Amino acid sequence: MNTPTILVTKHDAETGKGFAIVQFNRPDVLNALNMQLMEELVKALESLDKDDQVKAIIITGNEKAFAAGADIKEMAEASAVQMLIRDQFARWDRIRKIKKPLIAAVSGFALGGGCELSMTCDMIIASETAKFGQPEINIGVMPGAGGTQRLTRAVGKAKAMEMVLTGNMISAEDALRWGLVNKVVPPEYYLEEAKSLAREIASKPPVAVRLAKESIMKAFDTTIEAGLEYERKNFYLLFASEDQKEGMKAFVEKRKPEWKGR
Ligand code: CAA
Repeated sequence: MNTPTILVTKHDAETGKGFAIVQFNRPDVLNALNMQLMEELVKALESLDKDDQVKAIIITGNEKAFAAGADIKEMAEASAVQMLIRDQFARWDRIRKIKKPLIAAVSGFALGGGCELSMTCDMIIASETAKFGQPEINIGVMPGAGGTQRLTRAVGKAKAMEMVLTGNMISAEDALRWGLVNKVVPPEYYLEEAKSLAREIASKPPVAVRLAKESIMKAFDTTIEAGLEYERKNFYLLFASEDQKEGMKAFVEKRKPEWKGR
């Protein structure tokens, strides 16, 4: 039997504020993202997205590597037509459609597809040892899973150009300064910090979380006018939820709200 390329665990389900951790499991190759891993990852995320016990999802690797990129050995001999037919990066589009908040917990290398995958998540918690980079230029190609687009939006044109055209890695500290990551913590705490962020989000009303995420994502592919309209409609839509009634009533009654998730 094939060794699973990812490990999935669920946490705090009994509290009603549960979250899941998906951990890459190819330590011998620094969690290189081969097609089997990507398929298992996408299937796991889609299944967790439908799981009522899970309100947020953490994606992580190990201390040495989040992921060192797409599996170079798997691609090295491929022709352009084979790459086109495989269309392996299409799986990234399915990750973009996940509705629950995704948190990348990054330690060590997040390179190429690894960096791109962390940027496909909604938030990134990094260990002080994290190194982000798009080194594809050094192997004769360029980012193919969103790097030129997401990195540019995250850190701006000048820094994105520098990272993609030189292939140089940046430190966690630079990633924080440039707005690529949310927080940098000592290596022993990065997963704990991601868990505490997941727990905090899991304690919020899920329908509002979902529509808020959707509205922020809209900012990446629309005009300000259409985006504001989209936001407004989602805001109004939340008044159809029981959680809106409960949230505002609890505020007025000076008590803690009890979310129902509907
Ligand atoms: N694909 C396949 N195998 C990889 C890999 C990758 N992306 N990255 C590392 N490995 C393997 C190595 O081949 C090595 O395996 P063996 O022990 O069988 O030789 C093992 O992982 C350990 O790696 P190193 O011995 O190289 O470890 P190191 O600590 O000396 O160096 C590193 C670490 C700097 C990250 C180096 O491994 C490296 O440069 N990796 C490649 C990074 C890269 O170019 N990523 C981009 C890939 S293309 C891509 O991602 C396209 C896209 O846009 C999606």
